[in-house]
Amino acid sequence: MKQKILNILKRNQDWVSGETLCRGLGVSRTAVWKHISGLREDGYQIEAKANLGYRLIASPDVPFPAEVMSGLSATVFGHNLVHLEEVASTNAEAKKLAREGCPEGTVIIAETQNGGKGRLGRAWFSPRAGGLWFSIVLRPPVNLIDTPQVTMVAAVSVATAIREHTGVPAGIKWPNDILVDGKKICGILVELNAEMDRVDFMVAGIGLNVNIGKGEFPPELADIATSLSMESGRHIYRVPLLRSLLQQFETWYYRWLNEGFAVVLDKWRHMCVTLDCPVTVHTVKETYSGYAFDVDDTGALLVRTRDGSVQRLVAGEVTLRKQLRKQ
Ligand code: BTN
Repeated sequence: MKQKILNILKRNQDWVSGETLCRGLGVSRTAVWKHISGLREDGYQIEAKANLGYRLIASPDVPFPAEVMSGLSATVFGHNLVHLEEVASTNAEAKKLAREGCPEGTVIIAETQNGGKGRLGRAWFSPRAGGLWFSIVLRPPVNLIDTPQVTMVAAVSVATAIREHTGVPAGIKWPNDILVDGKKICGILVELNAEMDRVDFMVAGIGLNVNIGKGEFPPELADIATSLSMESGRHIYRVPLLRSLLQQFETWYYRWLNEGFAVVLDKWRHMCVTLDCPVTVHTVKETYSGYAFDVDDTGALLVRTRDGSVQRLVAGEVTLRKQLRKQ
C-alpha cells in the first residue's frame, strides 16, 4: 500500500487529495496517513495541506525498488530488487533467493553488511550508506569452464559505469579489482552453484566505495582503498549510479552471451592496468615474480618469468610492482 501511494504521488507531481487516495486505493484516511508517515520515515519529503492533500517534494537517495526503477533503462537487471537495511552478506542472501528460483537479474542490495565477504576469505568493509553493496543473480547458459569469464564481464561493466557516470578514471587489475590510481575502489566476488555439466546459478557481488571519506576507512585500508567521493571531490548520488551499473552489466552480460567472450576481452584489455607491468603472483602453490604482458583468449593472465618461460595464471592474486599503466 505504501508503494502504491508513493507511485500515485510520483505520477502526479502535484497535490493529490486524501479523498482521491482513499477512494482509489479503498482504504481509510487513517491508513493513508499511516503510510505517508512511513514514507517520511524512509526519507521522502511529503507536504500535507488541509484542503489540498499530499504532495511529494523530494525522494531519498536510497536504492529502494521504486527509486531504482524510475528511469532504469535495463530491461531485466534490477527489475526484481530487494532492498535491505542490514544483512550479513548480500551474496549469501542472493544465493538463498537463487536456490528458491528467483529470476535472472534479481538484485539484493543492503545499506550495510555486517559480514560482507571479499575474495580469499577476507572481510569486506561495508559502512552504512557509504557505498553500493549488492549482488546480482545470473543464470548463464554456458559450460562450467566458461564461468570465470563472468568476473571479467562484471569488471568491464563496473569500470565503464564508473567512468561514464562520474568521470573517475577507473582501471581493472586482473582479474576483476577496480582501481583508481593504484587504490581499490571496488571489489567483485562471483560465486557459483553448478552440477558437473550445468550451471544452476551464479551470483556476482559488487562492493563499490561511493561516499566514504579518507578518515572513515579502518587503518589497514586507509592507504590502499579509495572512494568515488574522494576521487571526484564531490558527493555521488547512489541511485543514478546503481542504474548505470545495472545498465552496463546487462549490456555486457548479453553481449557476452550473444557475441562471445572476445568483445568483452577487447574492452577489458583497454581498461586493464595490469598489462605491461612487473608483477608478483601468489597462487595456492607458489609465489613468483615476472612481467604480465597479456591475457589469452580465455582471460588467463600471461606472465613471463625471469627465466623466460611463460606462466598462464587462471586463479590467484597479483601484486603490481611499479607505477600502473596510465588510463
Ligand atoms: C574482493 O575481495 O575484492 C571482493 C569484494 C566483494 C564485496 C561485495 S559487497 C556485496 C557482495 N556481498 C558480499 O558479501 N561481498 C560482495
